[in-house]
Amino acid sequence: MAPYVVIAPAKVNLFLEVLGRRDDGFHALETVFQTLALHDTVTVDHAPGDGITLHCDDPSLPVDAGNLAWRAAAAWQRLAGLPGRLAITLTKRIPVGAGLGGGSSDAAAVLRGLQRLAPKPLTDAVLAGLASELGSDVPFFLLGGCAHATGRGEVLTALADLPPLPVTVVQPAVGCPTPAVFAALSDVERGPRPARGAAWWSDRRDPAAWLHNRLTAAALRVQPAIAEALAWLAAQHVPLVMTGSGSACLALGHLPDAPPPLRTWRTTLRPRTRLDAAD
Ligand code: C5P
Repeated sequence: MAPYVVIAPAKVNLFLEVLGRRDDGFHALETVFQTLALHDTVTVDHAPGDGITLHCDDPSLPVDAGNLAWRAAAAWQRLAGLPGRLAITLTKRIPVGAGLGGGSSDAAAVLRGLQRLAPKPLTDAVLAGLASELGSDVPFFLLGGCAHATGRGEVLTALADLPPLPVTVVQPAVGCPTPAVFAALSDVERGPRPARGAAWWSDRRDPAAWLHNRLTAAALRVQPAIAEALAWLAAQHVPLVMTGSGSACLALGHLPDAPPPLRTWRTTLRPRTRLDAAD
């Protein structure tokens, strides 16, 4: 059987609101996810033997159960009951700790690849449950494109694709840990507040008017270097937003390189119809 090559796109949150704290310690969110052309590449293979082997071209990342892609393969194999060895290869392009969902996307790409090579794939419902156990952003990467989400991010409604608009991602030299950002929310930032509902975005097809992230102030308290990225983008007079829990920030349009130590990626929105396109 030939190995499957799966595209694992980065995501941004064009809108992210905190609705309140839940009894399980997580926060109820309302967010609009969007995949980007920027992507990692994941290869999934099935071989004789047993266990899971993970290779990654970024030596700073773990290649065992410390990597979400490894845990995705292990959990999928347990549920699918497929004997043999699963060999996963990650070619990283998405910056780590940036709020671009690289680890979650790699995990979802492993699941998408394994579903294709399995004689008896998991049902959509079992797959969705597994994705949501792996992490709050993983279910979105099974869908891709533009999507509205509530819950922890797993209650998804597909929104109509946006055109492949140009975007610029600017990342400070340092990442930002998600749990610390949620813990740093003030009482006012934490809510509670009501959700707008998916229809709000269906009725207003202007992404520049969507840009909002309630986690920005908390992320700045955790990682003050994010202010440099926000200030540089603000000086370009373009619509901008921080993505996820940071540290990367996004602007609509293509911009020149930001000055070091900021890092710059010019990319485009990736429509759902091109989720697997290798461009
Ligand atoms: O699900 P994920 O692994 O991305 O979450 C990492 C951490 O971020 C959680 O352990 C929690 O502290 C925080 N989080 C949260 N509410 C969410 C998503 C994440 O409090 N909706």
